[in-house]
Amino acid sequence: MFNPAPSRLAQPAILPDFDRPFGLPAFNSVAEAIAAYDGDDAIYVLYPKTIESAAQTFLSGFPGQSVYAVKANPHPAVLKILWSAGMRGFDVASIREIDLVRTTCPDAELYLMHPVKSRRTIRHAYQVGVRHFAFDSMAELGKILVETQDATDLHLHLRLALPAGGSASMPLEGKYGADYDDAIELLRAARPVAAKLGVCFHVGSQCMDPADYIRALPYVHGLLEIAEVQIESLDIGGGFPVAYPGLEPAPTQDYFDRIAKGLKIFGFEYLEIIGEPGRALCGEGGSTLTRVELRKGQDLYLNEGSYGSLFDAAQCAWKYPVKLHRTDEAAKEMEAFRFFGPTCDSMDTMAGPFHLPADTGEGDWIEICHLGAYGQALATRFNGFQSETTVAVLG
Ligand SMILES: Cc1ncc(COP(=O)(O)O)c(C=O)c1O
Repeated sequence: MFNPAPSRLAQPAILPDFDRPFGLPAFNSVAEAIAAYDGDDAIYVLYPKTIESAAQTFLSGFPGQSVYAVKANPHPAVLKILWSAGMRGFDVASIREIDLVRTTCPDAELYLMHPVKSRRTIRHAYQVGVRHFAFDSMAELGKILVETQDATDLHLHLRLALPAGGSASMPLEGKYGADYDDAIELLRAARPVAAKLGVCFHVGSQCMDPADYIRALPYVHGLLEIAEVQIESLDIGGGFPVAYPGLEPAPTQDYFDRIAKGLKIFGFEYLEIIGEPGRALCGEGGSTLTRVELRKGQDLYLNEGSYGSLFDAAQCAWKYPVKLHRTDEAAKEMEAFRFFGPTCDSMDTMAGPFHLPADTGEGDWIEICHLGAYGQALATRFNGFQSETTVAVLG
């Protein structure tokens, strides 16, 4: 039976073969990229300088080692940009992410921080040099030990469930993490078999209050005292926010300062401190260029939607910053619009409101900004709508 690969269904994008920094076609401006594009799909844009600068913020300010959470944007160009900026640690969750990072940045240190892994994943990870493994149950600890053949060089990270509450726009509570009693038992069980032992937690993504990180520290401190177990590392996870309209966070340095102070207060500053930022490293360094196919009143029907990179714009009603790109002059007055994606599903609706020039209409390109994290990474091929075009804008 002839079963064409779904990717062949996409309209080809014709882009000039310019210099390809980080393996991408590169342009000086979004306008240049649009002018060069002859496809029918959305275009994903990466801004290497913005990603580099976010990496520098973490590398110079975070009070410990920063490890990039690859899930936020696994595009090989993002990995290369971060590597060239000096990022050396990468948090991975699956065999595909492991192999992707190994191929793209062969000397990277990999942290397999998913608390539930298949046995094949554990075996493969260990074979390709992964030594950091997360767990949150006795059964998972057992799997790690069996599948690494009782390796004596493991850095084991116990994932803790934090007490409920917090300011994250995307809480990650309730799925992973050992509760208080289990954590005590697990720390005691893991101590004799770990070359290094640590605890890790995640305050939830897009954490709006730096105090959430600090609130976790007395909890960890109390737990370790009761367990009477020494650890070597403390991984405070990801969750560092980026700016979206209506969700403007404190400067990242405020988070670092508060965390450094908290670590000192609880005597953790001598531990190996790890952070796993995803969103904060690539969120502002990427956008989606989408074309208006039809306007009906204040509704714009786009070639990109919630089954593409706009999942959070639909499901969480996030209002990403938007910009109109067109060669002719646009109306000065701004109006509020709602977006519809191209698929048949009525959930493919982004309520916004998104403010754009009043005469926005068919053929216009809209840049939906700050979509570098959990945008392209979540895109599906539903209904044959997908984009295979990622460009770098260097300006
Ligand atoms: C284990 C782990 N680390 C890091 C991250 C990255 O979080 P963020 O993108 O909010 O920084 C996540 C996100 O879900 C995660 O589950």
